[in-house]
Amino acid sequence: MKSEFTNNDRQPVVAESDHSSALFQPLNLRGLTLPNRIVVSPMCQYSASDGCATDWHLLHFGSMMTSGAGLFIIEATAVDPRGRITPECLGLWNDDNEEALRNVLSRVRKYSQVPVGIQLSHAGRKAASHRPFVGKGPLKSDQGAWPVIGPSAIPFADGWQMPHAMSRADMDEVVNVFAQAAKRADRLGVDLIELHAAHGYLLSAFLSPLANQRSDEYGGSLEYRMRFPLEVFSAVRAVWPEHKPLGVRANGTDWHPQGLQTEDAVIFATELRKLGCDFVDMSTGGNAYTKVPIGPGYQVPFAEAVRQGSGLTTVAVGLIQSPRQAENIVASGQADLVAVGRALLNNPHWPWQAAEELGCSVEVPWQYFRAATKAGVPPPYVR
Ligand SMILES: Cc1cc2nc3c(=O)[nH]c(=O)nc-3n(C[C@H](O)[C@H](O)[C@H](O)COP(=O)(O)O)c2cc1C
Repeated sequence: MKSEFTNNDRQPVVAESDHSSALFQPLNLRGLTLPNRIVVSPMCQYSASDGCATDWHLLHFGSMMTSGAGLFIIEATAVDPRGRITPECLGLWNDDNEEALRNVLSRVRKYSQVPVGIQLSHAGRKAASHRPFVGKGPLKSDQGAWPVIGPSAIPFADGWQMPHAMSRADMDEVVNVFAQAAKRADRLGVDLIELHAAHGYLLSAFLSPLANQRSDEYGGSLEYRMRFPLEVFSAVRAVWPEHKPLGVRANGTDWHPQGLQTEDAVIFATELRKLGCDFVDMSTGGNAYTKVPIGPGYQVPFAEAVRQGSGLTTVAVGLIQSPRQAENIVASGQADLVAVGRALLNNPHWPWQAAEELGCSVEVPWQYFRAATKAGVPPPYVR
């Protein structure tokens, strides 16, 4: 039988570290070594079928996992069908979903050994929405909407569904589906989990006074509002292998005077750290329609505040588009890692460009080596 060609003839090692750049320093998170500080930010592809990854995922994962970034985080992946943002969102709630993701990952893994994370998510009261570019806002019932859940019976905005205020039994169920999805991720050989507790989705909604007006021990003061997200974190940590990192994407602000504030984010991160959290990925917004002062690196101050206040390893994200900007964020200690989203969609070899600009080296697949920048080094098995 003809043996199959792959890029894994030898186990790749971390590319030589280059001390001239902070961005290209490796980072250890528990048993995982990231070869550099560039993270592919989780980005929904709205291309799944009943939660199952499709051929689009093969293309997208292939592109991002050979980009030169030190960590690829798979898009928001629903732990329950009701937790999908849109009907086309990726999921990991059943065997079919697991098998579809296994198929994609194992095929890309033949050519890339970059660490892979997955963002586990429940969209809460913002579930059952249109995918962008096709529609806007919530689905109507004749468009396939399903009932949504949240901490309180408060819709996200006018025209959005009234969520069912979760009972303790509903909360137990959500804790359980997060833990089950984490077990599936482990079986898939995923290296890292990021829990989605930002952007107004279920865990973020519990944290935000705008969405959470419960009068039981899960609402009211921050201590109570944090309780359910921390329960989910602990349940996932309990089933996720000890050597694998677990982190959280959280909001640094709701951009609203009555919403979650940066001091709250620091306290949440501090509590997460006590429970064994390995990193926080600091984003903002999504619990209400508000005015956001968008500009280059506009969320970096939240990463910096949370890093200083909690001591946790921190990811900065949001309009980080130039290599020099990314380098400065890490070198100045504002964050330990930078997540890059749209700049990587625009230029899937952004990390090669960054390495060249910063005078560093980055691993590139040998097939592309003749085209690679001066910064490219072939993977170790062809050196
Ligand atoms: C197409 C697209 C899909 C996204 N999907 C997710 C997602 O699944 N989970 C998430 O936390 N953020 C998601 N985001 C937000 C990005 O992860 C990132 O935080 C945001 O785009 C800001 O970073 P950037 O300016 O580098 O793109 C998405 C953004 C884009 C552009």
